Amino acid sequence: MNPLRHVAIIMDGNGRWGLKFKNSRNAGHKAGLKTVEKIIKVSIKKKIRFLTLYAFSTENWKRPKKEIKYLFNLLENFLLNRLEDLNKQDIKLKIIGKKNFSKKFNKLLNFSERKTSNNTTLQINLALNYGSKFELINAFKQISKKKIVVNEKNFSEFLQTRNIPDPDLLIRTGNTNRLSNFLLWQLAYSEIFFEKKLWPSFTERDYNKIIEKYKKIKRNFGKI
Ligand code: FPP
Repeated sequence: MNPLRHVAIIMDGNGRWGLKFKNSRNAGHKAGLKTVEKIIKVSIKKKIRFLTLYAFSTENWKRPKKEIKYLFNLLENFLLNRLEDLNKQDIKLKIIGKKNFSKKFNKLLNFSERKTSNNTTLQINLALNYGSKFELINAFKQISKKKIVVNEKNFSEFLQTRNIPDPDLLIRTGNTNRLSNFLLWQLAYSEIFFEKKLWPSFTERDYNKIIEKYKKIKRNFGKI
């Protein structure tokens, strides 16, 4: 049985779900947040140590202003309403991505990270304004200023995921088979599951099924 320390998720399909069932993409994001809550609970039950959620990509700025505003309001309210409880559950919150939001929102993100920084049961990495290419270029830039011999291990230390083991498992919901600029370096040896269901329809049972399948995979890491 493979150990499972780190699950990364591309939570795709909110918009389509919202349009299909509520005639509104934003209703899909609201429903998607409920799935987030469910998956956090199950992850704790399954003793998963790291959960990385792709909440907003560097490319998502191309969406209509109204949708972006809705998403950030949702996130803000999630943090304002749920932080206390996340902290009680010993959850550590880390933001990966470029924190160049409004002063007020950056303050809330920093506060949330600081408040939960000593928690150890589950670390949630929230990928916000995250793009893997940006992360990699930023790492190259930092390295070029230093006189060091680069190798796989020290290169990882220049990424925003430093000190976080690479994902064992990547799940992408929403019936789309691509990585969308997510953790391109870190996913080099992850097991990837593309799930047909849209994120708001993704259930505890679906998550468990994928985990069970993952556990039985023969992970060779290049060996035979
Ligand atoms: C992708 O679906 C989803 C997003 C860009 C946003 C994800 C946000 C949430 C699940 C809610 C808040 C999350 C947290 C962690 C508090 P899409 O809109 O691209 O769907 P589509 O492919 O059907 O258009």
